[in-house]
Amino acid sequence: MSAAAAHGVALAQPSDLREELDRGTGWAVVKGFTVSGPLEEVSRRFEHFSHQFGPVSRHGQSGTTIWKITPRQDIEHLPTFSETASEAPLHTDNSWAPHPEKYMALLVVRPADKGGDSIVFSVDEALETFGRSLVGRRAICLMRQLNYPFATPDVFETNMSKRAVTIAPIIDPSRGFRFRYDVIQAGFELLPRLATAEALWAVEVFNHFLNSWVERKANKIHLETGDILISNNHRALHARTPFTDCSRLLLRARMA
Ligand SMILES: [Fe+2]
Repeated sequence: MSAAAAHGVALAQPSDLREELDRGTGWAVVKGFTVSGPLEEVSRRFEHFSHQFGPVSRHGQSGTTIWKITPRQDIEHLPTFSETASEAPLHTDNSWAPHPEKYMALLVVRPADKGGDSIVFSVDEALETFGRSLVGRRAICLMRQLNYPFATPDVFETNMSKRAVTIAPIIDPSRGFRFRYDVIQAGFELLPRLATAEALWAVEVFNHFLNSWVERKANKIHLETGDILISNNHRALHARTPFTDCSRLLLRARMA
């Protein structure tokens, strides 16, 4: 594998990657991972690569460690971002878990011919910009103080008769930042007592800020075959632009 790169800076050592993830912008791109050969073999090598950042978690009821991200037609549940070709707005991964994993890695096996680009932003940068306004500062306070409900999407639920909801602040110094708008909205439906006027207002203005900020600032990254996008899931938000090419295939690992 060739040297890694984060925002154009060559990174030769895993320790440099850690530095970028934990104290820099929170994300990096590693280039040149070999994706030829049987997919099982590629998955095995990708899991080995990912393991250097921590134990690789299993994905919900499937129990799989390496998750295929590709549009699926053969599902009966409401699809989550990794199963569709639609836009995925800015979010952190596994926000519904009691302790979302610290790191997330995406390996591109086949990029979409057009679209399917990644957008990644530092949480610190987003909150610093949001907090420049009175409205932003008020919403940040509420997102620190209030408990929000994060509902597990269907595909990751192990007991559908009792859909799990994790209750946590959006900005939590001990468990990290977490955000996914649709997951919080589903949580409000399941636990309406948490849908107070203040909680609803803060999440709406923050979500509106993120969407408009992406429109203005979006730094789209078109990942190529063999690229690995790694992010610190407690320090960076990521998004994906829509695409139509159903052969697009990425592999994902999450590391605790
Ligand atoms: Fe994601």
